[in-house]
Amino acid sequence: MRRLLVTGGAGFIGANFCHYWCAAHPADRVVVLDALTYAGNLASIAPLIDTGRLRFVHGDIGERERLAALIAAETLDTVVNFAAESHVDRSLEDPATFLRTNVLGTEALLGAARDAWGAQALQRGCRFHHVSTDEVYGSLSASAAAFTESTPYAPNSPYAASKAAADHLVRAYGHSYGLPCTISNCSNNYGPYQFPEKLLPLSILNVLEGRPLPIYGDGLQIRDWLHVSDHCRAIELILAHSAPGETWNVGGSTQDPNLTVVGLLCELVDRAFAADGALAARFPQSPAAAGRASRSLIQHVRDRPGHDRRYAVDSGKIRERLGFSIGTALAPGLESTVRWYLGNEAWWRGVVSGEYREWYARQYAARPPDG
Ligand SMILES: NC(=O)c1ccc[n+]([C@@H]2O[C@H](COP(=O)([O-])OP(=O)(O)OC[C@H]3O[C@@H](n4cnc5c(N)ncnc54)[C@H](O)[C@@H]3O)[C@@H](O)[C@H]2O)c1
Repeated sequence: MRRLLVTGGAGFIGANFCHYWCAAHPADRVVVLDALTYAGNLASIAPLIDTGRLRFVHGDIGERERLAALIAAETLDTVVNFAAESHVDRSLEDPATFLRTNVLGTEALLGAARDAWGAQALQRGCRFHHVSTDEVYGSLSASAAAFTESTPYAPNSPYAASKAAADHLVRAYGHSYGLPCTISNCSNNYGPYQFPEKLLPLSILNVLEGRPLPIYGDGLQIRDWLHVSDHCRAIELILAHSAPGETWNVGGSTQDPNLTVVGLLCELVDRAFAADGALAARFPQSPAAAGRASRSLIQHVRDRPGHDRRYAVDSGKIRERLGFSIGTALAPGLESTVRWYLGNEAWWRGVVSGEYREWYARQYAARPPDG
């Protein structure tokens, strides 16, 4: 039986992880620590809190002493660190916030675990798992081999640089203090509960509301899409079987240009409207409500500075050593994601308000489309 501290558990991947873990390991104790930034939504884990499946603590990963006391008081033996500033565009506007949470915050959390667990952490079965990104490896040319765990770090955005720095600190805490740490570097996740500033939920919601679909540059940036449920299973395997000090790449083994993926989402929405007449009444602004193709909303906007061209993750190590395999391929994963957003309008209406609206207006609405 584990006793977990899940940081960032009100965010996209953290919330999915909490749902997954509570269902798969009902006897485990789960405590979520989250600062509830614009990206954190208690609604995503409310059913788990309401039914007593997990305890929620509002707080910041930078509060070392408070976190050490929490880990000790709850006798937590496992930390899974999802808490981060996670949006590349925001990191271009405000790098300092990313350094505060992703670098200094991660260091404080490592220190808290070390304070609480002491020198016998390994013998006591404690584990600190840090969730990182493939973006630490930089960008690949069209023909280059996929990133492996030994690809040199070459982060290109303030976000990626902050995640790279955090990874180095996790490694250093393992090496210098014997803290039993593991790291996973995963590709782009998609699925339920993703905040609609990221490409896929943004595209679904824009189609439903008849807004332009902003595509950076030519849209031929290649990403490796990983369904969030597969990511959760990968972390479960790492917690169960990895030796401390290991790092693990986790990808979805897909390599599709953004334009293709958004086009596929458009087709899925069109098909959903064709199959369910009630959708036209719910979303009258959507082109699909008038029988027009959703992809007519695609607009190419100026590319963002330093936009990485291609990411591809070699998941060979976790496949071969831990038996990981992809459970949700891209096409069914996108279909279930579209269905989830159609079925959870209250959730996304709740989060698409306030600060996000203003941010959206600044980012896209005011930006002239290219060409
Ligand atoms: N989403 C992806 O595709 C993806 C891909 C690779 C890696 N990752 C990594 O996975 C992790 C989770 O990503 P996500 O997409 O769920 O992010 P997210 O932005 O949806 O959620 C982040 C969560 O962290 C919380 N948080 C932010 N700052 C905090 C702080 N100082 N203290 C405590 N909580 C804080 C937020 O309130 C939010 O709930 C991140 O570390 C991210 O770098 C994400």
